[in-house]
Amino acid sequence: MSFPVHRPRRLRQSPAVRRLVSETDLVARRLVLPLFVREGLAEPVPISSMPGVVQHTMDSLRRAATDAAEAGVGGVMLFGVPAVRDAIGSGADDPDGILNLATTALAQEVGDALVVQTDLCLDEFTDHGHCGVLRQSQEPGSAASVDNDATLERYAAMALAQARAGSGMLGLSGMMDGQVGHVRAALDAEGFTDTLILAYSAKYAGAFYGPFREAVDSQLKGDRRTYQMDPGNAREGIREALLDVEEGADVVMVKPALPYLDVLAEVRASVDVPVWAYQVSGEYAMVEAAAASGWIDRRGAILESLTAIRRAGADVTLTYWAAEAARWISAGR
Ligand code: PBG
Repeated sequence: MSFPVHRPRRLRQSPAVRRLVSETDLVARRLVLPLFVREGLAEPVPISSMPGVVQHTMDSLRRAATDAAEAGVGGVMLFGVPAVRDAIGSGADDPDGILNLATTALAQEVGDALVVQTDLCLDEFTDHGHCGVLRQSQEPGSAASVDNDATLERYAAMALAQARAGSGMLGLSGMMDGQVGHVRAALDAEGFTDTLILAYSAKYAGAFYGPFREAVDSQLKGDRRTYQMDPGNAREGIREALLDVEEGADVVMVKPALPYLDVLAEVRASVDVPVWAYQVSGEYAMVEAAAASGWIDRRGAILESLTAIRRAGADVTLTYWAAEAARWISAGR
């Protein structure tokens, strides 16, 4: 009953037939470009572990965002690198802090063409590099730990500062319990009922954020394993996404992307809000390094990875290749 009646290769016989039956489309509007802006720069600074990505000045940031808008990407996600850091990350909710100033600049420049989004986390702003404020343990000699509930107060202040600065969507990437509900309540109490919340719901601790730490000049020593997730835990990722939806997340995210496609597919099947994925710095760096060595076809690997993330269920993908890939896609590859 099978072969020779069934010949799946019939569907692959020519470019025209393959194009007609292709299941998965890449479109520019489903890509979001992460951007780094650093306080006090005169010139953009290349990030050596992320060839092609820079820490922007205010001016080069504006140009990059305009370029992304022209390429048709759906949004930009802003990360700020402050000149001065402290224990509670004061720069994060300072209206004159680098991230908030840059947000206002971009909202004015490209806010009608795409959604200007901001990273809501303390790690770029703290002198210890953790995503929250620290509490000294009661037991002498034991290490300080990240104080969940005290951190929520800092996130609420940061959320209001970002909303006031003109951010359309807050990316809650700190993995504190209750952060979505707490930030939602703070926004609503001040009338910011339209500000969107993107919850980094299933965010796994691990090695793939390495280049990002250079990008934001991270001060972190140690790791984030008391708040980011164990890479082996898929069920827990679904639980986190369900909790975030319950707390009012408009969009949930899985991160990193390619190593966690199973989690992505399962989250997609479990919730009815948009599900996004973050193709992180380490994923970017691996392809760039292999391509630079002539070991892999750069364009092919980029488009294949984006297709795989989309196929697994991502409505939108954050990727450092967003603007470039958007142009390839629009040109029909
Ligand atoms: C936290 C944050 C991180 C990334 C995005 N938001 C760093 C971390 O969790 O250590 C990583 C993104 C990437 O690696 O591309 N503010």
